[in-house]
Amino acid sequence: MTSPQDTLLAIRNSYHFFRDVCAKPRPDDIFEFQPWDMAGAHGVYAKTAFLVYKEATNIPQEKHISWVGLILQWTTSVKHHHHFEETVFFPMLGDKFNFEQIQTEHDLFVPGLQKLEDYLVSCLPSGSTYGIDGLVVPEHENTAEYDGQHVRELMNSFVVPMLSHLQAEIDYISSKNLREADVTVKHLEDLAKVLQKYIMSSPKTTAMVFHILMRPDNTSWPAAPGFLKDVLVPYVFAIPKRDLWQFIPKKLDI
Ligand SMILES: [Fe+2]
Repeated sequence: MTSPQDTLLAIRNSYHFFRDVCAKPRPDDIFEFQPWDMAGAHGVYAKTAFLVYKEATNIPQEKHISWVGLILQWTTSVKHHHHFEETVFFPMLGDKFNFEQIQTEHDLFVPGLQKLEDYLVSCLPSGSTYGIDGLVVPEHENTAEYDGQHVRELMNSFVVPMLSHLQAEIDYISSKNLREADVTVKHLEDLAKVLQKYIMSSPKTTAMVFHILMRPDNTSWPAAPGFLKDVLVPYVFAIPKRDLWQFIPKKLDI
């Protein structure tokens, strides 16, 4: 459990760490590309943590359901990200890439993240949908009142270990460490194909919109056409779930 000041400081520092890594031009070298690309995704998670932590207690009551919906995009995206890493990404780096340490670090914050998600789901009406996969809220008798202070307290219990893991992982997959673990160009090319398929099959109006609207500022991440990032996502794909994205400011001072 960390104090509000320490939580906020850790969020700010890690956001700037990720942003600085992916503010460099997209690397042509496939080894250098790995930490750059990972830092972009992690920057999304740190930036959203900042938005949620800062605004948790400022949301008017009539907007609580939509706001909870936005936070659940974050929690479910982080869970998907780590599941994909453990089941696909790291195993594809070959036998010598040991990711036991990474799994241990995941286990340090996943229960806290799940607790936050369970609380948020309990604030939604039974039968409504949430998260990047449109999961259905189970039948429950009493829908909890959203309490922003409670959200912050729950975040104090897991955000710092989560962010230190996300930062450490950028080094675990540095081009030097990948080469030392005998990861080959072939491993990374195969991984790129699988990753591309995964991204293409991810839900467009939730996962894609969330990651692109919350991408780190002033970077070229993700490596996707500008027309998709600047036009199609904000003006087309964002429309169906626009009630969730209303909380994302054009500029966020972190
Ligand atoms: Fe990661």
